[in-house]
Amino acid sequence: MEKLVSKVFITKVDELPENLGKRVYVEDGNLELAVFKLANGDIRAIENRCPHKAGVLSEGMVSGEYVFCPMHDWKISVVDGKAQGPDVGCVKTFEVTVENGEVYVLFDGSGEASAPLECSHSLGNTIVAGKAGE
Ligand code: FES
Repeated sequence: MEKLVSKVFITKVDELPENLGKRVYVEDGNLELAVFKLANGDIRAIENRCPHKAGVLSEGMVSGEYVFCPMHDWKISVVDGKAQGPDVGCVKTFEVTVENGEVYVLFDGSGEASAPLECSHSLGNTIVAGKAGE
């Protein structure tokens, strides 16, 4: 059976500062994302809620493919959503696509996506990066 995918506009590429997060609300404000444009041009979207104590990840420092939570400095991958050891946990990651300078997040029709197998805390899901300019 074919999966239904909904594509939701979240921002323009030009509105994403490199290596800083942007807070975006989707799903009628019920879901908060942290969106990042990395130094390599990749655009990533993750749940804007640290798996430790709900720090706001869009306000964290970005280095490479990681964001450092502003609350207690956990290092979270913006690629697979996993906290780096010794910390344990993960956040949802979302598939992103870029079309004509506009960034969209893709949701499957069920509104649910599977969590990474290693992630036991999260609400989790999978990601495919969009590249600026695609
Ligand atoms: S809330 Fe993010 S490290 Fe504690």
